[in-house]
Amino acid sequence: MDQPFRTIIEPFRIHSVEPMRMTTAEERRAHLAAVDFNLFQLRAEHVLIDLLTDSGTGAMSRDQWAAVQRGDESYAGSPSYFVFRDAVRRLFDFEHIIPVHQGRAAERILFSVLGGPGKVVPNNTHFDTTRANIEATGAEAVDLVIAEGHDPRSDHPFKGNMDLAALERLLAARADDVPCVMVTITNNSGGGQPVSLANLRGVRALCDRFDKPLFLDACRFAENAWFIREREEGQGERDVVDIIRDVTGLADGVTMSAKKDPLGNIGGWLALADDHLAAQCRNIVILTEGFPTYGGLAGRDLEALAQGLAEVVQHDYLRYRIGSTAYLGRALAERGVPVLSPFGGHAIYIDARALLPHVDPLEYPGQAVAVALYEIGGIRSCEIGTVMFGRHPDGSEQPAAMDLVRLAIPRRTYTQSHIDYVIEVCERILDRAGDLPGYRIIEEPPALRHFTARFAPLR
Ligand code: F0G
Repeated sequence: MDQPFRTIIEPFRIHSVEPMRMTTAEERRAHLAAVDFNLFQLRAEHVLIDLLTDSGTGAMSRDQWAAVQRGDESYAGSPSYFVFRDAVRRLFDFEHIIPVHQGRAAERILFSVLGGPGKVVPNNTHFDTTRANIEATGAEAVDLVIAEGHDPRSDHPFKGNMDLAALERLLAARADDVPCVMVTITNNSGGGQPVSLANLRGVRALCDRFDKPLFLDACRFAENAWFIREREEGQGERDVVDIIRDVTGLADGVTMSAKKDPLGNIGGWLALADDHLAAQCRNIVILTEGFPTYGGLAGRDLEALAQGLAEVVQHDYLRYRIGSTAYLGRALAERGVPVLSPFGGHAIYIDARALLPHVDPLEYPGQAVAVALYEIGGIRSCEIGTVMFGRHPDGSEQPAAMDLVRLAIPRRTYTQSHIDYVIEVCERILDRAGDLPGYRIIEEPPALRHFTARFAPLR
């Protein structure tokens, strides 16, 4: 249905509410000082609008809560497992559906079988947990997104696409070292950008030529499919379920964080076509996650995810989801806040380096914007830039490719008025941009420093 009105209607009514916690700017300044300006260390009740992540932070529906009541907690062979398996198979038609507690568990299990020293795994862009789980086995993780994917100003409709020529070169040069090819949909680390069906077909053709399995990191598969429907030639009239089945039908398996598009607060799965690989993975699941019909989840979680999978593919939901994220992006762009374009599915990314040209990348402009969003408006966001990626294993520090601040939108959680408030706070930041100080790090751990580093403002 065409939307004849400007207002984006949330396609749900609110059935149970949580209080928002109001704080004053003075209280927030005290909270910031108490956590040394590291937003991960804040107590969530000190945050008004939490845009740290879209992972596990969505609101479940009435029907998901009803499904929770049907959860069967049998240790082995629970009916809830079969409900879950069938719901997954409707979209991801693989023989083996193995639940796990969240996405990174699926990654760890898959790469503890496929990884190892000397191996190299290409992806459009590895999410940090995927990269970490590959590297933890001694293998190498290589990002081969198209050049447009690195350009914050490029308007390419599928900036998450794999660079097929680069993939072909890698496969030709190191075929024996590549255990599999991965594609992340949507490309989170590259700005929530989609991958086209045509590009995935190209990846599949290369995998066939070099006899390699293709795995999808498919956390945001429904948002990716909606972008295909909206942007790819010949896809505009199709049911998104058919697009999803086309996409997943190209792969040999998926790793999944069910905390994203499956609309769960916890969960994930590993879906595989190959019997031998599945048997190896199941043995690891038993060792560390649980019996393979629950994989670290409760029966009630499996039921909630099955219902979530039915809801996330509804066109009204996806139109609202992608439309409301774009609403935020458009409003910021119109007001002159530099944002990554095209707008991603689950988040809007502020280009902090462009917003604060007076702050050197090694003085963390992304951190400066993220701190200001909290101080001025009680909004928690996430720096994705030099704090997160600037420190290298050899101890050196270099500016990251971009200094971004991610405003991730939890699913079905905030209304348009909350987003209008976010827009207003960003306007305030634009007015004060010239006054925002850079930061220095006064203490950091050896790895993944963004979670625990302590900061101090430079003035
Ligand atoms: N792959 C992608 C593309 C992700 O975005 C995430 C998580 C994972 C894998 C890992 O899943 O958290 O369930 O173990 N992304 C979250 C985020 C944390 O904030 O973007 P997980």
